[in-house]
Amino acid sequence: MQRQQLGVTGLNVTSLGLGTWGLSGDGYGKVAEAQQDAVIERARALGLTLYETADVYGHGDMERRLGRLLKDDPRAVVVTKVGTDRAVSPPRKRFDPDYLRRAVSESVERLGLPRVVVLLHNPSLKALEQGEATSVLQELTDTQVIRGWGVSAGDIETGRAALERGAQVLQLAYNALWRRDVEELKGEIEAHQAALLARSVLAHGLLCGHWSVHKDFPDGDHRGERWTPDDLRRRVGQLAALRSVIGGEVLTMRSAALRFVLATPVVTSAILGPRSVVQLDQLVREVGREQPYLSAEKLSKLDVRLTDVGATT
Ligand SMILES: NC(=O)c1ccc[n+]([C@@H]2O[C@H](COP(=O)([O-])OP(=O)(O)OC[C@H]3O[C@@H](n4cnc5c(N)ncnc54)[C@H](OP(=O)(O)O)[C@@H]3O)[C@@H](O)[C@H]2O)c1
Repeated sequence: MQRQQLGVTGLNVTSLGLGTWGLSGDGYGKVAEAQQDAVIERARALGLTLYETADVYGHGDMERRLGRLLKDDPRAVVVTKVGTDRAVSPPRKRFDPDYLRRAVSESVERLGLPRVVVLLHNPSLKALEQGEATSVLQELTDTQVIRGWGVSAGDIETGRAALERGAQVLQLAYNALWRRDVEELKGEIEAHQAALLARSVLAHGLLCGHWSVHKDFPDGDHRGERWTPDDLRRRVGQLAALRSVIGGEVLTMRSAALRFVLATPVVTSAILGPRSVVQLDQLVREVGREQPYLSAEKLSKLDVRLTDVGATT
């Protein structure tokens, strides 16, 4: 599997990473503990060296689980996220220095691994502009408590502020139907030599092309709240653009969607969100091994077709 530098952290990671939000059961519904372990073990066996999590996923359980299953893997790099105080009800976002130092220390302890990178988890623009939160993570990096730091950002302005404050790693949503943030920031990401972790590369599963416009989601699945029926109808209609590049080595919609992300030069790694070993195997098998993940001809065709179907952002 292709590997590259994680920005200026000095760490080396695979171009596919295992994200653990879906696995934790928090966002999409319950996953059995044995299956959580099996997916992480399979990722390791497949050669993935990048794992992405957060202190809140499973209330810290995903960090503990990764720590236990990766403790004798000298290549494993774990990117975790902090910034949500769950000690209060309802939980609230917190990026003040005292809280962050404590949260990082607890994450590092739960993980118990040598290669931990910490991101601020969806901070507001204001939290970044105050400067204290980014200074704390830089100091923890300088003193080698962690191996690097960055920001998981929800919009362009926050992503830009993170880069201006020296973030070594930026995480953004990026997929064929959601290109705007990465397209807008790619020049700045390159100029700052930051690593880019692309998340939600399948648009939460939509890009696999298995859904009808009447798809129902069970209780506890965040997707039930994400799209109105009209949005879903429009998005499912836009999938025709991705179908247009299936053929040759690109066997499925999943494959087209993932290859599109990895074919984007500024992307360091795509963070996958499988909830079973079967899903992980499908993703790894269908993505291809190295550049070019999609030929220049297919990329250009896809660009035109995405515009045709109105997927301009
Ligand atoms: N703010 C943040 O930092 C943030 C936000 C979002 C995500 N993330 C991270 O990024 C990871 C991935 O992002 P994501 O969950 O938003 O979205 P995603 O990868 O776009 O979609 C995940 C969903 O895709 C479906 N899927 C996965 N593999 C499949 C396969 N082989 N065939 C068919 N369907 C498949 C699954 O749906 P079903 O459950 O229906 O099978 C899964 O729940 C998360 O686990 C999390 O670690 C971080």
